Amino acid sequence: MNLAVFISGGGSNLKALIDAQNCGYFESQIKIIVANKDAPGLRHARDNNIDYLISKNEDEIIDTLKNYDIDLLVLAGYLVKISKKILDNFKVINIHPSLLPKYGGKGFYGIHVHEAVFANKEKISGVTVHYVNENLDDGDIIVQKKVDISNCKNPKEIASEVLKVEHKTLKEVIKKLEEEECAH
Ligand code: GRF
Repeated sequence: MNLAVFISGGGSNLKALIDAQNCGYFESQIKIIVANKDAPGLRHARDNNIDYLISKNEDEIIDTLKNYDIDLLVLAGYLVKISKKILDNFKVINIHPSLLPKYGGKGFYGIHVHEAVFANKEKISGVTVHYVNENLDDGDIIVQKKVDISNCKNPKEIASEVLKVEHKTLKEVIKKLEEEECAH
């Protein structure tokens, strides 16, 4: 599959995907990285000579994705809601740092997710990779992984434990989806 990875922040999930691609973990290729601003994670694009687009313009984004013949959009810390127009044109998946439907939806992004999890004294949190539909954090779930956070002393520690599992999970999902493509 030809992948487009969408980021807004540090891009550690993007880096995990690039590493997986570089060592041949999956066959898909990250053709382009899209960011809504000059995100710090774009350095991974530059370091690995992967094309990137900084844009908030939906038509420009769609045209670019079509030019690169993209099969799948991977949202990896992308903080902009995906429009119906994009969803009508492409298959989109997202990684979310909780066990959805818990701690998902409006306001639950980044550290806010882990703050809420910590405030509720959860012992288990996790990772969800799901298809994206028009509602936030609501599409069909592809994979969920639980993470033991019973030893975490603050939201930052939870974020770091969950992020380690995110990095493994996202590449596994790409491999699973490309295997499903082959089976068709
Ligand atoms: C991750 O926790 C991801 O689940 C969430 O935003 C964070 C992005 O981290 N959607 P990074 O930019 O991949 O380091």
